[in-house]
Amino acid sequence: MNKPIVAPSILASDFANLENEVKMLNNSVADWIHIDVMDGVFVPNISFGIPVTEAINRHAKKPLDVHLMIEQPERYVESFKKVGAASISVHYEACKHLHRNLQQIKDLDCMAGVAVNPHTNIGLLRDIIKDIDFVCIMSVNPGFGGQKFIENTYSKIEALKRLIVDHDAKTLIQIDGGVNQDNAPKLVQAGADVLVAGSFVFNSSDPKHTISDLKNVMNHA
Ligand code: DX5
Ligand code: ZN
Repeated sequence: MNKPIVAPSILASDFANLENEVKMLNNSVADWIHIDVMDGVFVPNISFGIPVTEAINRHAKKPLDVHLMIEQPERYVESFKKVGAASISVHYEACKHLHRNLQQIKDLDCMAGVAVNPHTNIGLLRDIIKDIDFVCIMSVNPGFGGQKFIENTYSKIEALKRLIVDHDAKTLIQIDGGVNQDNAPKLVQAGADVLVAGSFVFNSSDPKHTISDLKNVMNHA
C-alpha cells in the first residue's frame, strides 16, 4: 500500500506567524500545502484569499493545493494560479458548468479537483470522472476546521473507488475534514490517496512529528 500524500491545512496555523508555519511545513515530510479559501457565501465563514496565498507562496517549497469554497470559482482560478497554485479544487455544488471549469483549471497547467459536500452523491461524478485529477471528499461540512469526522465518508470512498476502477480513471481520492491518527489508517485502507489535516497537525505539540506519523500511518496499522 502506498504512503498517502499528506496535505496539512494552513487554516489551522497561526496566521500571525505564517512565515514560520510555512517554513515548518517545508522542513516536514508534508507533500502539499492545503489552502482553504472561503467566501462567506458558499460557506458561512471567510478565511483568506489571493494576497495571503501569494504571501504563503513566497516562502513555500511545497506545491500549493488551493481548495476554493466559493461561489462561481471560475472567476478566480487564474488569479490563484498566478500566486502559485499547483492544484485547484472547486465544489460540485458551486459550479453550473463543472466540465468547463475543470478544463479551465487544466488549461492553466494545474491539477483539477472536484470537492463534494457530505450530502452530495458520488454517482453524480460518473460522466466526468475521467476529467477529474482528484476528488476531494468532504468528511465534514465545509467552512470550519476542527469539526467531527463524518463516518459515512468510508462508504463514499468505496463508491468513488468503484467509479474510478469501472472507468479506468486515474483520479486521486482526497479526504478533507476531521482527519486524525485514528481514522487515517482506515481511510488509506479504504482507498484514500491524499489526507488533508488541519487541527490535528497544528494543534499537536510537535506538528512535524504529527505530519510524519500521518505519512507513515500504514506502518503501524
Ligand atoms: C474545512 C476545510 C478543511 C479544514 C480541515 O472547510 O476545507 O480543509 O481546514 O480542518 P480539520 O483537519 O481541522 O478538520
Ligand atoms: Zn479544505
